[in-house]
Amino acid sequence: MSEFATLTVAGKTHQLPVIEGSEQEKAIDISDLRDQTGYVTLDRGYKNTGATKSAITFLDGEKGILRYRGYPIEQLAEQSNFLEVAYLLIHGNLPTQPEIEDFTRQITVHTLVNEDMKKIFDGFPVNAHPMGVLSSLVCSLTAFYPEPADTRSSVDKLNLNIIRLLAKMPTIAAWSYKNSQGHPVNYPKNKFDYCANFLYMMFALPVEDYTPDPVVVDAMNKLLILHADHEQNCSTSTVRLVGSSKVNLFSAISAGINALWGPLHGGANQEVIEMLEAIRADGGGTRKFIDQAKDKTSGVRLMGFGHRVYKNFDPRAKIIKVACDQILKKLGVDDPILEIAKNLEAAALSDSYFIERKLYPNVDFYSGIIYRALGIPTDMFTVMFALGRLPGWIAQWKEMNEAKEPIGRPRQIYTGERERNYVAMTNR
Ligand code: ACO
Repeated sequence: MSEFATLTVAGKTHQLPVIEGSEQEKAIDISDLRDQTGYVTLDRGYKNTGATKSAITFLDGEKGILRYRGYPIEQLAEQSNFLEVAYLLIHGNLPTQPEIEDFTRQITVHTLVNEDMKKIFDGFPVNAHPMGVLSSLVCSLTAFYPEPADTRSSVDKLNLNIIRLLAKMPTIAAWSYKNSQGHPVNYPKNKFDYCANFLYMMFALPVEDYTPDPVVVDAMNKLLILHADHEQNCSTSTVRLVGSSKVNLFSAISAGINALWGPLHGGANQEVIEMLEAIRADGGGTRKFIDQAKDKTSGVRLMGFGHRVYKNFDPRAKIIKVACDQILKKLGVDDPILEIAKNLEAAALSDSYFIERKLYPNVDFYSGIIYRALGIPTDMFTVMFALGRLPGWIAQWKEMNEAKEPIGRPRQIYTGERERNYVAMTNR
């Protein structure tokens, strides 16, 4: 029997359908509420609003569960690799051997970017933040591949643009770093796999040989998998909202990159390292910083802590913390800020302010320490996040288009002036 929620407003009772997801999560469908009652709902920051139905990622913030297409994140991070996970997210199932070989081959042969793109790189000042460069260059792909890249175009054309984006993002990302160093760029090398190729383009110098360290390649695969999708977060919702206007794939993803950049979202990974460095410079004690983070007038937050959805623990943070110890050990890196991070985490987790508000380390708390150990510069951390999140954004954009979702257009409650007459400048 169908379930309904009953709402009484302005003395009248209305029935609203209840819908249930495949993991028994329930929602009250208010699509017809305004037509029925004249009322809209208000939910700033969408704290309790489901914006869509999606079959890509399931997460349960209370239980600390995260699954891509039904597969637990712990299994994927341990046993899979990034391109296999990208295929899973975008196409819905794990690939067969021929499918992954074809997918990998196609990505490998599309890694070059048009030589004219170099002129755009040249136009940026050397100190430009690589996230700004990345989003601009991804958007500029619309100029190089102007044919419609949405689901109105043929499936082949759509898949080709998806491949182009997956293939060219690492090249653009690595070149933005090379540009900031004033170094010549490295062209992709097809003998390397996805992650090794990125590391080669980042770190190889014309004056010496460079072979990516397999430990670093493995660590990068793991980090990218852990970031690959996270249901309707800020940047993914941005991709879906922008994409709902039927703009092309490249523009929608460029918008997602910009949304990710903010310090409350993906930009937190850079902020965490800067925070830990500041604590270190101040002598390494965590008490002063914890007190500042609790003081609402200080404007300081404990970066890498807290999450809109996870109120118990972030399963990605759990995996990353263990990986952090292992990777630093394997690479023989002794980073003093790891100890500071652990002390800070322990201090926060035993403080009533953080306990009462259910604030725990999120994915960004330890990831920066690993990126640092891999030799990735701090202002490239959020770019690494973007590389990881790319297949999730693509999968969500594709799903939104295939479901023919209507253009995203929230309502508002207007709080401004009521109608008033224009007054000529001379009379003001
Ligand atoms: N440090 C100190 N206090 C915090 C923190 C923090 N990191 N996070 C939340 N709080 C406090 C808030 O001040 C608020 O306190 P109050 O109830 O006394 O007013 C309470 O906890 C709830 O916080 P909100 O901001 O309402 O929670 P929201 O769900 O809107 O924000 C967010 C979530 C943005 C992640 C927040 O926890 C935060 O700013 N964290 C630091 C930035 C960060 O690490 N971002 C990365 C998130 S993961 C990701 O995007 C990949």
